[in-house]
Amino acid sequence: MKNNIIYTDDIHFSYTTAEGVAPVVLDGVTLGIEEGSFVAVLGHNGSGKSTLAKHMNAILLPSGGTVYVDGIDTADDERLMDIRRTVGMVFQNPDNQIVANVVEEDVAFAPENLGVPPEEIRRRVDDALKAVGMYEFREHAPHLLSGGQKQRIAIAGVIAMQPRCIVLDEPTAMLDPIGRADVLRTIKTLNRERGVTVVLITHHMDEAAQADRLVVMAKGKVVADGTPKEVFSDVEGLKAVGLTVPQTTQLLWELRQAGWDVPLDALSDEECAQTLYYLLTEHPSGKSL
Ligand SMILES: Nc1ncnc2c1ncn2[C@@H]1O[C@H](COP(=O)(O)OP(=O)(O)O)[C@@H](O)[C@H]1O
Ligand SMILES: [Mg+2]
Repeated sequence: MKNNIIYTDDIHFSYTTAEGVAPVVLDGVTLGIEEGSFVAVLGHNGSGKSTLAKHMNAILLPSGGTVYVDGIDTADDERLMDIRRTVGMVFQNPDNQIVANVVEEDVAFAPENLGVPPEEIRRRVDDALKAVGMYEFREHAPHLLSGGQKQRIAIAGVIAMQPRCIVLDEPTAMLDPIGRADVLRTIKTLNRERGVTVVLITHHMDEAAQADRLVVMAKGKVVADGTPKEVFSDVEGLKAVGLTVPQTTQLLWELRQAGWDVPLDALSDEECAQTLYYLLTEHPSGKSL
């Protein structure tokens, strides 16, 4: 078995507000993220996804339990740099993550702050921009780019730190469909071709369906964990925590409710179409679907 690059061991967390301690936001989360995997985290608004993400590179520390990043306890403040170098974080709004007026300067910003030598920075910046498909925009002004392009620049900025894992908190939430697709393709390429571990927090079912593993959060707890096919097959369970399922699963589920013997895990459009085709050709008796 591969090692866990992140491991949260029964973590609990509450925000402290002016009125005192707010309700429990993380309520005993134990989760291992295997090195090299692509894990999606899905959950209703307020279920604790962003709070969990912030525990993954020591932006927040648990009030109970322990988080390990590459075996390092995130509460060990002497190791903060090692933790931040291992796990990079990408947030929802690309505008808040861009700091320079030229794309390549923006990507160089973090490694420069780490004291990486200039020739090494040049190499890393070029490499990171190529990895996200934005190399030809290296001399452009970031604020003139589309949302999706800006988000890919933000991802390049994280990649230039050469993290082994990136945690992305709803990175496509502010993007149009083209920008969303480009960002998702970039994330998958980083995982598949470079072996970067990816934790993708999303509320898009179609994005979650593309991960190797899908974790569902509700009220600060992990309520489902498995392959997307396994997790989405539990239609009632997901509906109970306020989530919908992909349209393919919904269609198959309704057919099942109507008494048709179809599998619920034909998740991709192709598999679903194949299932319907099979059903139609196996039941040519004129029964309407
Ligand atoms: N900075 C904060 N101070 C107080 N409460 C917060 C803060 N951030 C989030 N919360 C509360 O914690 C809960 C979980 O929030 P969050 O982790 O952002 O969930 P999600 O990302 O799943 O929408 C929510 O009830 C939210 O209102
Ligand atoms: Mg959130």
